[in-house]
Amino acid sequence: MSRFLRASLGEDFGYTPGEQPPDAGGWLKLNSNESPLPPSPAVAPAVARAAVELARYPSPVAEPLRSALARLHGVDPEQVFVANGADQVLDCCFRAYASPGDSVVRTEPGYSLLPVLAALFSVRDEAVALAPDGSLPADFPRRPGVMRVVVNPNSPTGHWIEPPALEGQLGDAGGVVAIDEAYCDFAPASCVPLLHAHSNWLVIRTLSKSHALAGLRVGYALGDGSLIADLNAVRDSYPVDRCAIAGAVAALEDREHHRLIVDTVLRERARLSDRLRSLGWTVAPSHANFVFTSPPPGVDAADVATRLRVQRILVRHFTAGGLDGALRITIGDAPATERLLTAISRLDGSILSGT
Ligand SMILES: Cc1ncc(COP(=O)(O)O)c(C=O)c1O
Repeated sequence: MSRFLRASLGEDFGYTPGEQPPDAGGWLKLNSNESPLPPSPAVAPAVARAAVELARYPSPVAEPLRSALARLHGVDPEQVFVANGADQVLDCCFRAYASPGDSVVRTEPGYSLLPVLAALFSVRDEAVALAPDGSLPADFPRRPGVMRVVVNPNSPTGHWIEPPALEGQLGDAGGVVAIDEAYCDFAPASCVPLLHAHSNWLVIRTLSKSHALAGLRVGYALGDGSLIADLNAVRDSYPVDRCAIAGAVAALEDREHHRLIVDTVLRERARLSDRLRSLGWTVAPSHANFVFTSPPPGVDAADVATRLRVQRILVRHFTAGGLDGALRITIGDAPATERLLTAISRLDGSILSGT
């Protein structure tokens, strides 16, 4: 960092993403909640066709993708805001709603980008502890704040709150309520059908997970047209490039491939959870494309992550917020589950015996 960086940000400022494999040699990447399968085969040709038009700026509101998303969710195009990933949607929410000194209320544990955005915008980061069962504490809706952010299913725990329960708690909450549904396609239901009743709610989605497009960078928000107009007022001029727009439309049209990705995750999530439990691990019930899991007593989670890395398997170990006893492991395909379980069952013995 240079001496010119805003002092309020501090020395170690920045979001820490999951490690990228340092070389091309046989890594199993289970640390960033990416898809176990590649995207629809229709995506690459659509991207190549769009590339022919790269001399021209794309649509500022990401048409025709915006209309395709509106059709998918049964809303008007004016109720859809598209950006360069859900992360940029969250950034735009802070830009639109949080002035320096305002409070933004969120849960802990929760998405680790949110405190980073709070610091960036000089906003008070009101982190409220989730109950051990993953439910929202009773005072969450009443805490003063210009915006509340709920991640559902939550990351990194995988807990899910049923939409009617969420509505029971947040239906009268003041300020903007942003519900980050990045992992919602792996859960039984969404808050999107509740949007018409709550003009201060935004639901945030991404194509990074269940559409296998993390590398294309497409996320969006759904909500009342007035909120969407706010987000459009503060966004970059052209947040989604032509190739991303075309690739995302192609992915949305391939419903069968989307189903295949979701089904693979649900099947492997159940299998991995059962097998880890049978090895003595604690696995939180997950409604996302990852499990949050702790090794048996006496086994150090950080040590497990390090030893898996030696075997070229990357999993996520968080050190902040009291999460250091657990690992967040992305669900892979069947061979990935097998490779991980084989590595873990070998590790268990060596870690317990200290070799
Ligand atoms: C809760 C949550 N929201 C948003 C994102 C980011 O989504 P995107 O890749 O669309 O920026 C992630 C990524 O892992 C996430 O965990």
